[in-house]
Amino acid sequence: MADQSETAAGERLEEDENGHGHCSDCENEEKHSYNRGVGDESGVKKKKKQKRKKEKAVDKLETSEAQVSTLPAEKIQEIQKAIELFSVGQGPAKTMEEASKRSYQFWDTQPVPKLGEVVSSHGPIEPDKDNIRQEPYTLPPGFTWDALDLGDRAVLKELYTLLNENYVEDDDNMFRFDYSPEFLLWALRPPGWLPQWHCGVRVITSKKLVGFISAIPATMQIYDLTKKMVEINFLCVHKKLRAKRVAPVLIREITRRVHMEGIFQAVYTAGVVLPKPVGTCRYWHRSLNPRKLIEVKFSHLSRNMTMQRTMKLYRLPEAPKTAGLRPMELRHIPAVHKLLGQYLSQFHLAPVMNEEEVQHWLFPRENIIDTFVVEVIWEGSQNLA
Ligand SMILES: CC(C)(COP(=O)(O)OP(=O)(O)OC[C@H]1O[C@@H](n2cnc3c(N)ncnc32)[C@H](O)[C@@H]1OP(=O)(O)O)[C@@H](O)C(=O)NCCC(=O)NCCS
Repeated sequence: MADQSETAAGERLEEDENGHGHCSDCENEEKHSYNRGVGDESGVKKKKKQKRKKEKAVDKLETSEAQVSTLPAEKIQEIQKAIELFSVGQGPAKTMEEASKRSYQFWDTQPVPKLGEVVSSHGPIEPDKDNIRQEPYTLPPGFTWDALDLGDRAVLKELYTLLNENYVEDDDNMFRFDYSPEFLLWALRPPGWLPQWHCGVRVITSKKLVGFISAIPATMQIYDLTKKMVEINFLCVHKKLRAKRVAPVLIREITRRVHMEGIFQAVYTAGVVLPKPVGTCRYWHRSLNPRKLIEVKFSHLSRNMTMQRTMKLYRLPEAPKTAGLRPMELRHIPAVHKLLGQYLSQFHLAPVMNEEEVQHWLFPRENIIDTFVVEVIWEGSQNLA
């Protein structure tokens, strides 16, 4: 997938097109190609040749894009999946074993440990930078950066539509997350959010939003160190623009914008194995409407189970089993903050939240988050469980 996409992407999208691997602290892609020409008599010729080559590549991209855009998105995905299957070991790795067999053209250039690396210490992988690249990274021709103003309903709706049609799917491409505009606003505007960290990519001519990546501020505890970082989320490239090495450009650009604020570490999750995970997470589903879920093929009937028995098994009790369970109220915030902080402090890697952040992330919001507490009054003092 990666090789094939390099040519399609055209101009200066990825390091290997220029024949060099990016060092993680390389802030300027152009600088590398320039340096190679210096002191070389044939530099100008080479540059001309490179320019012709580049123009050809752009032509090729435009032709292939024109052809591609006539195909329905599902067809494109099918083709991409087939290509992935045939390019053994280069598709997205779902397990550590698969990951160990593939190479990481982009991630190998980033300040992250290699998959096989044994990590026995902790701390910054590279020192903070004081010389940050000022210009945005170069997108393929025809595309432009746009910091999204999510306060504008129309823009928020555009982001909603991009994600609704192109964000994370299950392995069979049957289900996709459907985060509502209000949910996105909540997830992307916590205390300290910055507009330039809502990083969109648009088609220049049509203005259509075709790519997105975000960062939000987060304080993390790593062993005994507390560090201001960002959480990276909602990386998304439109289905018609996939496998063209746009994701690495998005990641580089959000990194640059985070560096501009004097932050040099990030936490992120992915459904694929990337170098190198520090933790894994397992999701457990509790079916609330098993009939519907089975009908739409989200779940299936287990062996020896009938629909009736499944529905009975998952039926909720008339009243909650936990006595005293009630929706969290504003007055609970200090106690929730304390209880949550105590709980999280047992982990080697955990977020640290102040009261304002606890309120933002946990206070109930209709159709976004429900939070319940159990209040226990002991000798006049309030405690939460
Ligand atoms: C994830 C997504 C943006 C990748 O874009 P793409 O067009 O498939 O891939 P590109 O050709 O642009 O880039 C490929 C590079 O991105 C990396 N990549 C793929 N998924 C990634 C992820 N979730 N996070 C970080 N990097 C990722 C690949 O490993 C590859 O780098 P490598 O050469 O070092 O292996 C795109 O597939 C998408 O929008 N998927 C649906 C939404 C989604 O899964 N988002 C991520 C949520 S964790």
